[in-house]
Order: sequence, then C-alpha cells, then structure tokens
Amino acid sequence: MEIIKNIPEMRGVLKKHRRNDQVIGFVPTMGYFHEGHLSLMDIARQKSDIVVVSLFVNPTQFGPDEDLDRYPRDIERDESLAEERGVNYIFYPDADEMYPPNFCTYVKNTELSNLLCGATRENHFRGVTTIVSKLFNIINPDLAVFGQKDHQQAIIIKRMVADLNFPVEIVLGDIIREEDGLAKSSRNVYLNEEEREQAPIIYQALTEAKKLVEKGERSAGDIKKFIYEKIDSVEHSDIEYVEIVEDTMLKSVRKIKPGCFAAVAVWFGETRLIDNVILL
Ligand code: PAF
Repeated sequence: MEIIKNIPEMRGVLKKHRRNDQVIGFVPTMGYFHEGHLSLMDIARQKSDIVVVSLFVNPTQFGPDEDLDRYPRDIERDESLAEERGVNYIFYPDADEMYPPNFCTYVKNTELSNLLCGATRENHFRGVTTIVSKLFNIINPDLAVFGQKDHQQAIIIKRMVADLNFPVEIVLGDIIREEDGLAKSSRNVYLNEEEREQAPIIYQALTEAKKLVEKGERSAGDIKKFIYEKIDSVEHSDIEYVEIVEDTMLKSVRKIKPGCFAAVAVWFGETRLIDNVILL
C-alpha cells in the first residue's frame, strides 16, 4: 500500500492502472477508521482491481463552531487497518493541496443541501459536494462507495453525479452498528459513559418504528411522534430533528410509501449523532 500526498502523483499512478484497464474503486473518508469505513473498503475491494481511499478532514464541511480541530485523527492506525483490508493507495493530502490560496469555486446542490442536517449545518453539504467533486476529478474512479449512515449525503452525491455527469457508479454500504445498535461513527468517542449508555435509544426508536410500519401503520405524523417521544424519554438526549422523507428530493411525507426513510439528528451532550432507517 502506498500513501500519496500530492495530486499530480496520485493522478500519475492511477493513469498507469487505467491504461491496463483496471477497475478503480474509491472510498472517500475523513479517517479515524471504524468497522463502517472498513466495510466500505471491503465492498470496493470486491468490486474493483485497485482500491483508493482518501483520508482528508475536509475543513469546508465544518461550521465555525464545529469540531474540525478536535475531530479524531490517527493516521498510523488508519494506515495499518487499510493495508489489512487490501487497500492499494491512501490519498492523504494537506489542506493546502486541496484548497490552494484564492480557492473560491464550490459545488452546491441548491435543493437538498438546506434540508435535514443542512438546516442547522449551513454550508456543510456544499463542503461535501465540493470536496467529493474534487476527489472524483483527481481519482477518476469507476465506482465510489459511501455509507448509508449518511443517507442524506449519499442522496446528494447521487444527485450530483447524475446532474453533473460524473462517470462514476455510486455504491452504498449498509450501516454498521455496535452490538447495542448504536451506529458506528468516528464521533462516538466524544460520548461520556452516561451518554454512551443512552445513545442506543436512537436505534431502538427507529427499529420499533419500522416494526409499526411493517404491521401496517402508514401515518408519517404518528411514526414521527413515536420516534420523537421514545428518544426524548432518556435524560441526556436533545433532539435536533426527526423527519420522515422520501428518498429522491427528501420531501416530508404524510403517508409512508416505499422508499421512505426516517432520519434523526440527536445531541447527547456535545456530541451530535445521526441515524436513519428505511421504513418501507
Ligand atoms: O462521509 C464523510 O466522511 C465525508 O463527508 C466525505 C464524503 C469523506 C467528504 O469529506
């Protein structure tokens, strides 16, 4: 496995593989790998000849009061985990490499970026679509793998790829969970003991809601209320949103139809957790 820090070198090595008709699979990450990331690398490994993982904590997707500086980082551990998973290249650029002086061109989805997580995280999705476009232009992958945990992000990336004609297939990997149901996230390390104990309420609420839908409940309002009350019942939760939306334009629905999913963002102390479940 090679670690590559600059753009021309990354482009250069991949050109060679492309000339040999090798399929290039790409997993964009911000590092601090957990089983969720590793499962995305496994998918890329199965579907491609060459696997590239980018590791870049992207400043433009963090708001001024967010956790950019304290975002967990451990490059040595990440390197050995990626190597074990058969990754060929880690693209590990500095911020200056990705955002040179006078950078002022962004990619933004004008409809979906301000909904759900975007309602409180101004410019977050603009930062994501900008960096993912740049990475796609540098790596030029045949396929790219994203996690279903960031469901809104995945929908926005798919929309961007279709709207801007990026020649890349987007593949989604399932949410990987702890034994008690908490979705794996690099940010889980911020939770204190009590918060960590209570955080699985999110998944319990979502799975119980899905069971109600399986039994025939179709009122989005009732399901939303159910999820809200269940999560709200634990002391340390502070709900940012609970929404039931369709999976194309993320519009709120009144009646649950196939493809609808429930998405939540909940604070436990200083830690913001997101999760979702496809209801039908
Ligand atoms: O999902 C993430 O880790 C990030 O949003 C991504 C896609 C790597 C862009 O920085």
